[in-house]
Amino acid sequence: MAKLLIRGGTPLKGTVEISGSKNSALPIIVAACLAEGESVLENIPRDIDVYTICRILQELGAEIWFDEAGRLHVVPDGLQNYQASYDLVRRMRASFYVAGLLLARLGKAEVPLPGGCALGSRPVDFHLKGFQALGAKISIEHGYVKAEADELVGNKIYINRSSVGTTINLMLAASRAKGTTVLENAAKEPEVVDLAIYLSSMGARIRGAGTDVIRIDGVERLRGTEYVIISDRIEAGTFMVACGITGGELVLTNVVPEHLRSSIMKCEEAGMEIEEDINSIHVRAQGRPVAVDLETAPYPGFPTDLQQPFAAMMSIADGTSIIRETIFDRFRYVDELRRMGADIKVERDTAIIRGVSELTGAQVEATDLRAGAALVLAALAAKGETEISGIELVDRGYEQLDAKLRQLGADVERIDDESNVFEEFLTRPLLRRI
Ligand code: EPU
Repeated sequence: MAKLLIRGGTPLKGTVEISGSKNSALPIIVAACLAEGESVLENIPRDIDVYTICRILQELGAEIWFDEAGRLHVVPDGLQNYQASYDLVRRMRASFYVAGLLLARLGKAEVPLPGGCALGSRPVDFHLKGFQALGAKISIEHGYVKAEADELVGNKIYINRSSVGTTINLMLAASRAKGTTVLENAAKEPEVVDLAIYLSSMGARIRGAGTDVIRIDGVERLRGTEYVIISDRIEAGTFMVACGITGGELVLTNVVPEHLRSSIMKCEEAGMEIEEDINSIHVRAQGRPVAVDLETAPYPGFPTDLQQPFAAMMSIADGTSIIRETIFDRFRYVDELRRMGADIKVERDTAIIRGVSELTGAQVEATDLRAGAALVLAALAAKGETEISGIELVDRGYEQLDAKLRQLGADVERIDDESNVFEEFLTRPLLRRI
């Protein structure tokens, strides 16, 4: 188990470079495997989820490696295995994207059901209905989804609830289907748009990404290409909150301010001063944050992935804030924040947070990726020392979070036991060309 020891109370100061978007990188690395020939991807974050998807694709036969300049090379020509391994897929829900890939590329897929997770039940029923609408035969046997189609044929598909994963999986499958697919009630997240731009640069014909109707005219072939993915709006939002909760001053570089609109507005409402440039943001905070109410919603609404970090900031705000979570079951961090002195009451999908003047250090545990980030933020503001265990979960979606915080003046120490997954991933030769 990896732990962080954080001694709070230092206002963060300085410049931090935001990494590439995890939730863009995952589908784009999978999409690279739809092509013929090599893709070279830039701005790919080195976090655990990225390594997991690379390993899954390597097991399926793709060649993937990082070069010395940090660019990810994907050569999918040897991808011939249609069975994804349980051990890797169960670690991460986004690995279900390989189902869309395998159906489109090989006409056959056997992928373990990703199952539930710390965010409550997260079914893939919309994905499966979409594949069926494209002509795939689907069965579930021994925990595996088995999908088969001699040929995928475009169709009109209404997605029941705006779903990022479903929209992405169906875009992957439809990009090489016969004829036209129309996705209605599609997700509008920047990561969906990024995937559409990348697929188009490979020769796909996609219109409407970023609106709730996406039209995909299937093509026979896609070719590998070079692409720079967008930066991570959730990591950027996390650093904005880190600034707000510590009363610091930060410049965030490598960001797309437009993707952060709702988060910027909520941070301003909480009393922070924010100036935007083309690809950087200057954030200033002083004193206690002001209490703010919010409700999570699909993009362009306030992102569910920032709900926990923002709640951590509200726990020391001046006043009471009411936070409603509409996407997932995401309040498991509340018990841990209470151990640090937060005053939070949860009623069904709503947290009522009465700001306290000070949090105090405690031993706490990260229960999922963003919950872990929330605890790190709370610890940065708390009096005394906080020990956060379960940091592997934070490593899933943040590249070197502890190192970046140290660079901004935070007192953060990392303790790893012998089975340090992160180091193991960084040092193993898996991602080099063999
Ligand atoms: N849903 C279903 N059936 C489905 C698919 C989704 O009922 O077949 C429901 C979900 O349970 C949820 C809602 O639809 O209530 C929306 O889920 P969505 O499919 O949009 O979520 P996702 O694709 O599984 C992605 C991100 C999440 C992010 C959500 C919402 C990736 C890899 N994951 O998940 O990111 O919270 O969209 O924006 O892109 C994270 O990075 O920490 C993270 C969890």
